[in-house]
Amino acid sequence: MSAPPSFALHTYGCQMNVRDSDLLARRLRAAGLAEAASEDEADVVLVNSCSVREKAEEKALGKLGLLCAARRSRPGLVVGLTGCMANRLGPGVFGLVPGLSFSVGPRAAPAAIAGLVRDALAGARGRFVPDPAPGEAASEPPLPDGGVPAAPPVQSYVTILYGCNRRCSYCIVPSVRGREESRDPRAIVAEVRAETARGARDVCLLGQSVMRYGLSGFAWPENLPSPMGFTEPLPRLLELVAREVPEVLRLRFTSGHPAGVTDELVRAMREIPAVCPHLHLPMQSGSDRILRAMRRGYDAAGYLDAVRRLREGVPDIALTTDVIVGYPGETEEDFEATRRAMEAADFDNAFVFKYSPRPGTPSSLLEDDVPDAEKRRRDQVLLADQDARGQRCNDRWVGRVAEVIAEGPSLRNPARWSGRTGQNKIVVFDPAPGLRPGDLVRVRIASARPQTLYGDPLP
Ligand code: 5AD
Ligand code: SF4
Repeated sequence: MSAPPSFALHTYGCQMNVRDSDLLARRLRAAGLAEAASEDEADVVLVNSCSVREKAEEKALGKLGLLCAARRSRPGLVVGLTGCMANRLGPGVFGLVPGLSFSVGPRAAPAAIAGLVRDALAGARGRFVPDPAPGEAASEPPLPDGGVPAAPPVQSYVTILYGCNRRCSYCIVPSVRGREESRDPRAIVAEVRAETARGARDVCLLGQSVMRYGLSGFAWPENLPSPMGFTEPLPRLLELVAREVPEVLRLRFTSGHPAGVTDELVRAMREIPAVCPHLHLPMQSGSDRILRAMRRGYDAAGYLDAVRRLREGVPDIALTTDVIVGYPGETEEDFEATRRAMEAADFDNAFVFKYSPRPGTPSSLLEDDVPDAEKRRRDQVLLADQDARGQRCNDRWVGRVAEVIAEGPSLRNPARWSGRTGQNKIVVFDPAPGLRPGDLVRVRIASARPQTLYGDPLP
């Protein structure tokens, strides 16, 4: 008997893509394929792409080009595309990437992938499977078993909200991921339970704008009451998952928006023990003028008010953010407003992105008038600010005891282990003999760097 065909996945972009790749890997394993030891040996390589910034698309296109060129020495190689670029480029992708075997939208991929790969291995080329039209996507194929990976992930993701109904001027997500569609809470509970059976202890619920969970085209099932008295869908969902799946030690959700920081949500974060004191709350800019142009639906004061309510309501909360520099028309003054707002919010961590116009978005009609060198400078300034701020935030942990879920050997120094706190901070420590991924460890923090804490486990 010959060996089964093998596959490799190459993932770009957000956590939703990481999640989708994991699901696709499980479907391919369930269909009899084996995970390749390396991409160079794989019979099938799938590229899961991101469209959010131009650079992400360039990388994926470069990767696809290399893979298709490798066909000259690996004639049977199957190269497939999924993710946001599959939606954005449609069937036109076969002109851009000659030799591509197939392209499939991210929502269509779970049901279609096994058939596409089988046909492509038999020689089929050029097949495009678009995502289902809104409302058509209701039938979700059951989760495949697909086997437990050799090192089961302690941290895992579950998508609860597809698409995005917001219309931020710069963002391509609504056009590539479609309208909002909230998943049924019972399906979410079942999936979280399946994740914990595979070893997950820290589960993050995903949506492009996750606080809009259940707010459009959705009715919470009547037979799922809220003993804590919540009326809003996301607090109800957090309560339900925490109650139904006690194996989840940590529950998170991402990404947030200030409009979703309601009193109920703050109470859910404070009163449900599994829900982490951690929130990723993209700010994008601290200038009222730019925020208005971006159509974000808040001004700097509104954003900082959400921050204040979170800090008052959730002890020790860690806040992280995304910021865009060089939006069309961003002046030095706008930029300085962003610096001040970031300082006022006291972010634990920040991701800074240089603006890039995306096809079809409202802001792509504006002149991209901040020179690249200036975008780079603003990026570096914000990163330097954040380094100092991250150091200051982390210094506050020195001497305190952190509850850490052990994940495994540290990447930098495999003799030590790393794990995560509820605040999502990475902690590096010396593992006690017999320590297993997923174990809860109490670590006294001895020193801090902007992105990492170091400490000693208590007996
Ligand atoms: N240019 C630069 N950054 C962008 N983001 C989204 N669209 C763009 C764009 N056109 C950033 C936002 C978002 C993150 C995922 O990517 O900061 O929060
Ligand atoms: Fe893009 Fe705005 Fe939706 Fe976030 S909320 S994904 S920035 S459109």
